[in-house]
Amino acid sequence: MPKAHTSYAEFYKQSIDQPDAFWAEQAKLIDWFEPFTRVCNDDKPPFVHWFEGGKTNLCHNAVDRHLATRGEQAALIYVSSETGVEKTYSFGQLHLEVQRMAASLKAMGVGRGDRVLIYMPMIAEAAFAMLACARIGAIHCVVFGGFASGSLASRIDDALPKVIVSADAGSRSGKVTAYKPLLDEAIRLSSHKPEAVLLVDRGLAAMDMTPGRDLRWSDLRAKYMHAVVACEALDSTAISYTIYTSGTTGKPKGVQRDTGGYAVALAASMRHIFDCNAGETYFSTSDIGWVVGHSYIIYGPLIAGMATIMYEGLPTHGMDGQPNGGIWWSLVEKYKVTAMFSAPTAVRVLKKQDPALLKKYDLSSLRALYLAGEPLDEPTARWISDGLNVPIIDNYWQTETGWPLITIANGVEKKPSKFGSPGIPMYGYRVKIVNELTGDELTGPNEKGVVVIEGPTPPGFMQTIWQDDARFVNTYWKSVPGKMVYSTFDWGIRDEDGYYFILGRTDDVINVAGHRLGTREIEESISGHVSVAEVAVVGVADALKGQVAMAFVVPRDSSVLGDRAAAMKLEGEIMKRVDGDLGAVARPSRVRFVSALPKTRSGKLLRRAIQAVCEGRDAGDLTTLDDPAALQQIRERLLS
Ligand code: PRX
Repeated sequence: MPKAHTSYAEFYKQSIDQPDAFWAEQAKLIDWFEPFTRVCNDDKPPFVHWFEGGKTNLCHNAVDRHLATRGEQAALIYVSSETGVEKTYSFGQLHLEVQRMAASLKAMGVGRGDRVLIYMPMIAEAAFAMLACARIGAIHCVVFGGFASGSLASRIDDALPKVIVSADAGSRSGKVTAYKPLLDEAIRLSSHKPEAVLLVDRGLAAMDMTPGRDLRWSDLRAKYMHAVVACEALDSTAISYTIYTSGTTGKPKGVQRDTGGYAVALAASMRHIFDCNAGETYFSTSDIGWVVGHSYIIYGPLIAGMATIMYEGLPTHGMDGQPNGGIWWSLVEKYKVTAMFSAPTAVRVLKKQDPALLKKYDLSSLRALYLAGEPLDEPTARWISDGLNVPIIDNYWQTETGWPLITIANGVEKKPSKFGSPGIPMYGYRVKIVNELTGDELTGPNEKGVVVIEGPTPPGFMQTIWQDDARFVNTYWKSVPGKMVYSTFDWGIRDEDGYYFILGRTDDVINVAGHRLGTREIEESISGHVSVAEVAVVGVADALKGQVAMAFVVPRDSSVLGDRAAAMKLEGEIMKRVDGDLGAVARPSRVRFVSALPKTRSGKLLRRAIQAVCEGRDAGDLTTLDDPAALQQIRERLLS
């Protein structure tokens, strides 16, 4: 498809004024088994059906359609600095592996619409499993490998998977975490039980197999070595996957996505936003457990006919397991990476390494570094920009949107970035800033409000919350008074040039090292400890991780308050409990004990005031505060 547009403003305008014509054109970027009959059906807002009547398949678009032109070219480049494994799969080899996995899943009874929960480390087999699900029309639900049994169990009970695909273990910084016992415990805790569990044995940890339920990938792979499994012709609106994300309540939401709209959105973003071409190499340092991993490790680059690097390990260790802050740059050089995608946190980690490492490798293939997931602070952006000498493109989006919502579309028109701003609204997105209390649109420059999206939402955007349309509507579309608009739950402003600045969440979601976590989930885990009477968890600004979780606990036994040894013991137990329930990613950085928590007279916990105190800011209007001493106590505990 020729790039007919010269100005982004014109491109954007067409996407808003003539969405059907615009998206019908974008839809040519993918293969369709049957053409669609209607581009956008938004008869029942806020639900949107894209490309109705069309039939397609994500796996076909990611793998099969490239076989004729680039079957021998690299598709999946697997690199683990944890195990020293490095392996490239061509599109042809990926095609074979995916069919072996698809045949195995089918043999386990998985068919269209069945859920397959994937709880895996960053190994190539995780990609095979996702693509195999897409191939046969099963819905994959990838759960981040850093989550523990409690989180996993609640997701099993929500997704109701027929099959779970997992592995013996993950590894981080050389430390092996056995997944199988965590999975067994999760299945024990959950009410729903999967019919079968497929396990990849990496040789890292022994597995206690449950006869009649657990199967080994090596056995099934051998059995289906020569399997031929065709791609199912799926409705464009068929569910491709769900991915759980945190919100205001403790119960995670299964963000649900379609097939055709998602494929088109990703194909379009690879061209217009990431400015990439088939045959090049893309390197996203995220994890398949997050939305970035779905969109820009697996589907986006492969749909675009690119090789994608799947990296397991830290940015600070080399293939021999020894400290090496240049590992990512060595991969850029070796695989001639053209576009790299990471998070500000990772750059802040790299900033502590020897700056000479950036000069040691030939990074001339790299055209841009994309950063997302949390605010990009100016010193970090400047440091990496000076070091790499390529544009650093901040991009703002959410699990819910599936692809960037605010950034710069350099593939359409090169535009300058502004430090601190991800950019301007992307095509298809009607972004507004509204007053959170009145719902009135704020049109003036630098007026702070909530960032919202007016429907119809573009292709690739979440369809609904899995099995819960009412929650989808009530949570996202009814939070702004008097208006049916989608709330991002982020504060923002827009400057006089139309550039947006994101100023943090309006809800209780926190962002720790680029990981989205709900403080309510952490509170629920902590309050399950017998010695805990009450708890408040807040996100506190952190120079390296962006935010860290801090817990304030009212112990049942007040003697803990004056007994340092008892407090330390309880703090350790609480952290261990969070590790066991949710995983170490959610562990608070500190637990402080107090005799009371600051609440309003009506009993509402003032998390925001606690957060402000922790960050040394003014706690704002405290006229509704019931017990001012509680806040003072928190201030004192922070100093002690
Ligand atoms: O608060 C915003 C922040 O991360 C949230 C979404 O996180 P998640 O669902 O994990 O999706 C990440 C996809 C990249 C947002 O609501 N956020 C994400 N990107 C940025 C950001 N905040 C500031 N600037 C960004 N570029």
